[in-house]
Amino acid sequence: MNKKKYITVGASILSADLLNLESEIRKLHKNGVDMIHFDVMDGVFVPNISYGMPVLEAINRIDTDELSMLLDVHLMITDPLKYISAFEKAGADRITFHLESESDTVETIKAIHSVGCLAGIAINPDTPAEAVFPYIHSTEFSYPYLNSFADIILVMTVQPGFGGQQFMDMSDKIRKIREYADKNSAHEVRIAVDGGIDDKTATIVKNAGADILISGSYLFNADDMKKAVRILEA
Ligand code: DX5
Ligand code: ZN
Repeated sequence: MNKKKYITVGASILSADLLNLESEIRKLHKNGVDMIHFDVMDGVFVPNISYGMPVLEAINRIDTDELSMLLDVHLMITDPLKYISAFEKAGADRITFHLESESDTVETIKAIHSVGCLAGIAINPDTPAEAVFPYIHSTEFSYPYLNSFADIILVMTVQPGFGGQQFMDMSDKIRKIREYADKNSAHEVRIAVDGGIDDKTATIVKNAGADILISGSYLFNADDMKKAVRILEA
């Protein structure tokens, strides 16, 4: 029997009103979102440029005990390894980088864990599921340190670089990763999806086995954000 999965929703603030970021974040919290997805783009790995450490640091100042948010950093940059410590200092709780970047994957996972953050690996729509298998804990692949494995796999459901794009169905890929993780008793690995997630596409990705849903334009454009969050979580 399929166990009901606990779904976590993260809000991509790329779609927020950046002039009023503090009130936007308080609104997210009020409506039941406690994960802020922070998209970092360098104009090289992706064709767009967004924001970096100083903005995250400012968000981290809002993130108090009374308003506790998980700061989820998504690095769409060429050399993530170089910036791990800077993003941790700016307040990151989890750092996800791209397998397609130029940094060494195991070194980058280890660097993220060594600063006390959770580590995620993101893959673009053209990258196959099998590419992340070596970084999911299993008996087949043994690295000298357990901290060389990813805590989450982020499956991109759009080409990275912009919010508000059309969803690409990655169900087969999500299923393959979930099956591989379950077969290898890596049940704690979580699968996140990012790009074009709304009330309709959420059902598709949840059925395939995703349990972290990142959403930007759908959440911020919703007339009733609380309802939109509940729909994604359902
Ligand atoms: C795309 C970013 C996403 C994006 C999601 O490169 O990684 O996080 O902002 O936004 P929506 O939900 O609008 O596709
Ligand atoms: Zn993202």
